[in-house]
Order: sequence, then structure tokens, then C-alpha cells
Amino acid sequence: MNPVYSPPHPDTTEGSDDAEGLALRRLCIRLAGKVLVDLDAHIAPGRILTIMGPSGSGKSTLLSVIIGTTAPAFTVSGRIVLDGTDISHLPPQKRRVGILFQDDMLFPHLSIGANLAFGLPPAVRGRSARRERVVRALADIGLEGFENRDPATLSGGQRARVALMRMLLAEPRALLLDEPFSGLDAALRDHIRELVFSRARERRLPVLLVTHDEADARAAAGDRIELAHTD
Ligand SMILES: Nc1ncnc2c1ncn2[C@@H]1O[C@H](COP(=O)(O)OP(=O)(O)OP(=O)(O)O)[C@@H](O)[C@H]1O
Ligand SMILES: [Mg+2]
Repeated sequence: MNPVYSPPHPDTTEGSDDAEGLALRRLCIRLAGKVLVDLDAHIAPGRILTIMGPSGSGKSTLLSVIIGTTAPAFTVSGRIVLDGTDISHLPPQKRRVGILFQDDMLFPHLSIGANLAFGLPPAVRGRSARRERVVRALADIGLEGFENRDPATLSGGQRARVALMRMLLAEPRALLLDEPFSGLDAALRDHIRELVFSRARERRLPVLLVTHDEADARAAAGDRIELAHTD
């Protein structure tokens, strides 16, 4: 069965302006000859497109295609256009697409400061300039003085904030979220979700959110695409 998606919105039709934001143009992902994902969508700067669908419907695969880490089992056609540039064939590090997962993926063997410094672009040169950016980033998320802490000693909410900040320090032009709030308890979940969404809005980043949670989708307040079961 082919994937189905919600009725076209003016923003998601072919021919809309792709000069800004993230456009997925006739993007088709096949696995063993079968169509897994087939969509055409545009996410304007500062807007959130929510992708829902059952386990195995291709949500994480879609995000891997956008960041450029597609597994060899998949065949992809179509285009990924970011701020007017076709990034479909660029290596992942040149795409300027940030991603957050359910697991915060902090490096366990590095301090919090070193984890954040990892996100900094090479253009920020010199030890003191890099350190200064890390100190400011920590203050920005209410974690002053956490530079030398071991990630294992942080709470779930603190780790989530560090992961968000590490991703933002890399100055992405789009943000992908693969159920990043689902490991957090209810109160924390609302708080971190608001933090991520507000940072994305401030920076005018287009956001693609994968979630199973109706509350996430409501808070995103944008278009929705439902991927179908493909078995
Ligand atoms: N590296 C891979 N090689 C081959 N098949 C894969 C690979 N990764 C995923 N798949 C298959 O592709 C399909 C889509 O997987 P995907 O991880 O994208 O689903 P999902 O929608 O993210 O599911 P979930 O909600 O459980 O996270 C599944 O049938 C999965 O078994
Ligand atoms: Mg997944």
C-alpha cells in the first residue's frame, strides 16, 4: 500500500516558493522495491511540520535521508531543497541540518563543555573564543558552571538542554526532531518542547517533528503528515 498523507495545504504543493525553508520535492524512498515514503512538502522558516505514523512506516528513515545518512538498503529519488539550495547530494556535514533524537547522544567520555565545543563550527577559532562560546551557551540554558561535569551526573532535563544547545551551536538551517521528548516525564516534556520550539522560531528554522504524541503535534501547531502502514 502506498503511504497516504493529509490533503495538500497551500504550503505543501509543487511550485510554492522554495527559496526559504525546507522543501522535500517528490521525495520517494523505496525499500526492496516497495515505496516506503512518498511525499512533497514545504516547511517555511519558523514553522513545524509534524510527521506521524506507525512503527516501521519510515519516519526515522525519512530523517536519515534528509541529513544524508541513508542506509544502503534504501533507494531515494526526488530533491531536498534548503533555503533554495539542493542539498540532496551533499555530504551530511555540509547540509546544515540539525537533528535531535530520543536518546540525547551526549558523548559519555567527554565533559559537558567538551560536548558543547564539539557542536561549534571550525570558524570559531582559538581556545578562548571557543571556551567563551561554551560558557555563554551554558548560561543561556541555565547551566552556569557545568563545563567540567560528566554527562552521567546530569538529570534528564539538563541533558536534553545540553543536547539542544550542542545542536544549535553548529548553526543549522533546519531542525529535525525524532521523538526527542518521549523519554521525558510529563512536566519536563512540556518545558523542553517549549524550549526547542521557541529556539527554532527565534532562529526561523524550519522544523520537521516525528512524534507519536498528540500533545506534541498540537503544540507544534503546524501541518501534519500521516505515514501509512506499508506491510
Ligand atoms: N538500515 C536498514 N536496512 C534495512 N531496512 C531498514 C533499515 N533501517 C530501517 N529499516 C526498515 O525500514 C522500515 C522503516 O523503518 P524506520 O526506522 O524508518 O521506521 P519508523 O517509522 O521510524 O518506526 P518507529 O516508530 O518504530 O521508530 C522498517 O521496516 C525497518 O525495518
Ligand atoms: Mg523511528
